[in-house]
Amino acid sequence: MKILVIGSGAREHSIAEAFRRSLYQPYVIVSPGNPGIAREFETVELESFEDIEDYCIIESVDLVFIGPEKPLSEGLADHLRAHNIHVVGPSKSATRIESSKFFAKQLMMQNNIPTARFESYTDFDDAVSSLEKWNHPIVIKADGLAAGKGVFISNTKDDSVRVISDLLQKGSLGESGNRILIEEYLSGWETSLFAITDGVNFKTTIFSQDHKQLFDGDQGPNTGGMGAYAPVPEAEIYRHDIENLIVGPTIKAMGESGCPFQGILYIGLMITASGPKVIEFNCRLGDPECQTILPLLETDFVDICNSIIGGTVADLDLKWMNKSAVCVYAVSRDYPKNSNFITPITFSAHMDSFAFYGAVHFQNNELLAGGGRIMAITSVGLSKNEARNKVYHDLNKVFFEGMHYRRDIGLRENKF
Ligand code: AMP
Ligand code: GLY
Repeated sequence: MKILVIGSGAREHSIAEAFRRSLYQPYVIVSPGNPGIAREFETVELESFEDIEDYCIIESVDLVFIGPEKPLSEGLADHLRAHNIHVVGPSKSATRIESSKFFAKQLMMQNNIPTARFESYTDFDDAVSSLEKWNHPIVIKADGLAAGKGVFISNTKDDSVRVISDLLQKGSLGESGNRILIEEYLSGWETSLFAITDGVNFKTTIFSQDHKQLFDGDQGPNTGGMGAYAPVPEAEIYRHDIENLIVGPTIKAMGESGCPFQGILYIGLMITASGPKVIEFNCRLGDPECQTILPLLETDFVDICNSIIGGTVADLDLKWMNKSAVCVYAVSRDYPKNSNFITPITFSAHMDSFAFYGAVHFQNNELLAGGGRIMAITSVGLSKNEARNKVYHDLNKVFFEGMHYRRDIGLRENKF
């Protein structure tokens, strides 16, 4: 069996690793991958959808798993399906649940799915006049994809006017910000859940929790995610409501709108004093949540993928280890700013944790850290504390100039 994973980050590295553990013993290829992934898996550069299709046919690839939202939202899954290639990932029209926050919000409002109140604007003056109606803080979001940079929490009216002007007048996020959403600010604590779905039936995973801010104590700028852990026991009491009031209605509504969601749906939740509410949907596994969920899978990941493709999720027996996983990202010195600083990575001893690689390069037989999230170190333990201790012990064995990571992943108290 041959499996092709599309993507180039630590998330895709962990997806390849989950396939490697399969009892089907697949041969796993990652495209494009990165030099860190290439230490363990074959990687291949495929430029276009046609190149990926040709590769799958010539190499008799049995299954393609698409990791990131970009190729999904450009229609890669549709392209491969049209050529009878087995693929895990939603259609382009279903990815609108992530690529247009307006689409996702409308779907939620029309189906009474609990989420923050919102209004949407394309005109600067209209948006600014509406500010009279809102009590600050409010949340201002760009409609389109913005790689985690499209959400602004604004505490004052002046701040809001500036953000609205940046998006609608100055085009700071390009087309993604041509439409904005103004949202009620929700307080509570956040958790992520994934629904494995064939478009009709679904099974939910264990809960995970991301840590988005750059510094300990949730301080500093938002990032793509600095670390995560799973499971989140405090979230379990909400599972029934989340499945019945959020996941089920969302999947049903997607089907009824003519864009059934077939793949893995990410549900970002705020647990508020009045129950769980949707913060956002994504059309794919989360990064770094994925790196904590997949290592705890007991069910064969190939069986999960086959149930999505074959429409048999209703019969899927989803089992998890009775353990915890903690993932901590080591990031470059300027992250989340873009930087071109490249520096060698050294290891003082062998690591027992998984090292899932992100923004790395390879030169003169040396692995180098680039700019961004460099490596997601992940450990599994009998408890969250044991997993934390293992991860932080192993992080002491890695060094690159400017290396930064949070020391408090998994320590947050999930209280209102
Ligand atoms: P998003 O990209 O939509 O997940 O938003 C990024 C982060 O902004 C979330 O993880 C939350 O921490 C925060 N956020 C987004 N929407 C809201 C909201 N309505 N109320 C409070 N915080 C929010
Ligand atoms: N961890 C958040 C995301 O993948 O979007």
